Amino acid sequence: METLPCNELNLARTAPHAAIGPVLIEALPYIRKFEGKTFVIKYGGAAMKDSSLKSSFAQNVTLLRKVGIKIVLVHGGGDAITKTAEKLGIASRFLHGRRVTDKEMISVIQMTLAGKVNQDIVQLISEHGGKAVGVTGLDADTIKALPHPNAETLGLVGEVEQINTGYIDLLCGAGLIPVIAPTGFDDKGNIYNINADDAASGIAIALKAEKLIYVSDVAGIHVGDRILKTISKGEAADFIEQGIISGGMIPKVLSAFKTLDSGVGKVHLIDGKSTHSLLLEIFTHEGVGTQFVAEQESDQFLNR
Ligand SMILES: Nc1ncnc2c1ncn2[C@@H]1O[C@H](COP(=O)(O)OP(=O)(O)OP(=O)(O)O)[C@@H](O)[C@H]1O
Ligand SMILES: [Mg+2]
Repeated sequence: METLPCNELNLARTAPHAAIGPVLIEALPYIRKFEGKTFVIKYGGAAMKDSSLKSSFAQNVTLLRKVGIKIVLVHGGGDAITKTAEKLGIASRFLHGRRVTDKEMISVIQMTLAGKVNQDIVQLISEHGGKAVGVTGLDADTIKALPHPNAETLGLVGEVEQINTGYIDLLCGAGLIPVIAPTGFDDKGNIYNINADDAASGIAIALKAEKLIYVSDVAGIHVGDRILKTISKGEAADFIEQGIISGGMIPKVLSAFKTLDSGVGKVHLIDGKSTHSLLLEIFTHEGVGTQFVAEQESDQFLNR
């Protein structure tokens, strides 16, 4: 075995620690700033496909909760719903990124989204030492819904009318992580399918959250092969008009600006396909992904 001279050996031993220390300490001002604050994280179905990425997401969420940030998870599950529906011989149709939903599809959503997808996330967080509780919008009247303006075409797709925060507050106050499947109810006994981005936005607004973070399967908003560091409402409207922003990105972008306009200071889109993107976004100066901003904010001096 080759032996290293004493001083080189010391360097080899200390170098990694010397490099890791500053990285860890970079998180301290953010931990101090965010302790006791609420983050709403929208976990997109599109980002749930790879099991090691799912694990790193659950680790990130657990760590955030353990340093004292109140985490509320709202999840999608579009792909899982489509697959279950397919097995039952039910076709899926979408309009501007929203799922056309009839009573049969509501049953599929309850089975899949509020069932398997929700419980898989709860279990994953628990594997990493976090304590999560599966919740649907129907539990404790959490998400009261209205029919979507395009209900004639979309069917039982709802918009958030009111979020009753009592149950979520109770869970967060007890150090638990609510994992919310976005179904909604009305006073007439209807159950609604609510796009998870819309639900996350409504919940972030009602909780006066510090941040809303969408975790999806893209590195950010693409324009051609560029990924935008920031996007304003005006730019987003143009990109939707030009078809540059399409499909599931439309409800995300619209709900992001609604959230910003309603007083939640920071709204981000980050890549669920990149390991530890959540921690990097929150605990490093640079951040990752695309931040939704007011028109006048310069992207060079952006305060993440
Ligand atoms: N300009 C764009 N930049 C990035 N992604 C875009 C753009 N336009 C459309 N998209 C699409 O939006 C998709 C993300 O929305 P989608 O609804 O599929 O996922 P999600 O919201 O993360 O998951 P779920 O709907 O299950 O909660 C991307 O996978 C991409 O195909
Ligand atoms: Mg979506």
